Amino acid sequence: MTVAVLPGDGIGPEVTGEAIRVLDALGIAHSEHAFGGNAILAQGTPLPDETLAACREADAVLLAAVGLPELEGAAVRPEQGLLGLRRELGVYANLRPARAGGIDLVIVRELVGGLYFGEKGTRDDGTWFDTCEYTRPEVERIARRAFAIARERGGRLTSVDKVNVLHTSRLWRDVVTEIGAGEYPDVPLDHALVDSFAMTIVNAPETIDVVVTENTFGDILSDVAAAVTGGLGLAASASLGDQGPGLFEPVHGSAPQIAGRGSANPAAMLRSVALMLRHALGRPDDASALELAVDETLAGVKTADLGGTATTREVGDAVLARIG
Ligand code: NAD
Ligand code: IPM
Ligand code: MN
Repeated sequence: MTVAVLPGDGIGPEVTGEAIRVLDALGIAHSEHAFGGNAILAQGTPLPDETLAACREADAVLLAAVGLPELEGAAVRPEQGLLGLRRELGVYANLRPARAGGIDLVIVRELVGGLYFGEKGTRDDGTWFDTCEYTRPEVERIARRAFAIARERGGRLTSVDKVNVLHTSRLWRDVVTEIGAGEYPDVPLDHALVDSFAMTIVNAPETIDVVVTENTFGDILSDVAAAVTGGLGLAASASLGDQGPGLFEPVHGSAPQIAGRGSANPAAMLRSVALMLRHALGRPDDASALELAVDETLAGVKTADLGGTATTREVGDAVLARIG
């Protein structure tokens, strides 16, 4: 098994350092590749051909974060590399778990469609536009994935849309309802509108189980879910397709304000490693052991985002000591 590691920008390389120590401790082979803003500055592209080829050949891809303030809004941006990689790998299902206290929810975010990938441009009259587009098969596959996860957990599914306004939400709601009635009648299903559902995540997160939603809503709601479960320093994700390597990445970005200080929380990255062990590398026991080690560590060793003074390295040390 080999993992393609993309440290990226900002705090990316710092949290990657701790992930690599864990991979080494578990005897997992890995190679690092240029990706994101640093790749733009060095090679003119955020996703070099060599990097994409290495990702395709790997059993899994572990990505920290991309984004440089000086490239925000530029014509060529680090984030385009990330969208390109997700699309090229076909990882349409992005699982974003959020757990803390009595909260145990997972957002299943559609990752390769919607506003992010629809037609965009500028018309002659000066209008700039992005288009939200979904096909029936795109909604069917993400719905099936979310229902399967809910069934496996013995749980229920909430589908989040904006059917009172958006045309694509009508397709979304119909298809999710159909797949549920036809293939997953044992999984309780309800629907919610995205605005009030954002409030539910804040006010009653313990009532939420599995959530399925389109790309942009999932992006926003997963930061909200992270915020009510300890913050972005803790939130991991797994992006899966039907075949080929999965992509494992924290929910957070490159956090340029705190980059270079060794103060970033590596927990989200280490939890992403755990998701990779479980979903891509066939090592569920190591995944659970790593998750437990991170949980136990966080009870005592806290970085600044959690109100403590521990460094990135000290969190890594404590986790490594626990996994042996
Ligand atoms: P961000 O997630 O980088 O940071 C938001 C806030 O959370 C900041 O206060 C930051 O300091 C804090 N934070 C994030 N991760 C942390 C960690 N591990 N430990 C401690 N604190 C942490 O979001 P942003 O500031 O809106 O975006 C910065 C850049 O990151 C942008 O260029 C954006 O496009 C990019 N971004 C990339 C990804 C990704 O690569 N997957 C995800 C989100 C944002
Ligand atoms: C995320 C990030 C990305 C997204 C950006 C950096 C393209 O915010 O993974 O949540 O919007 O998908
Ligand atoms: Mn995001």
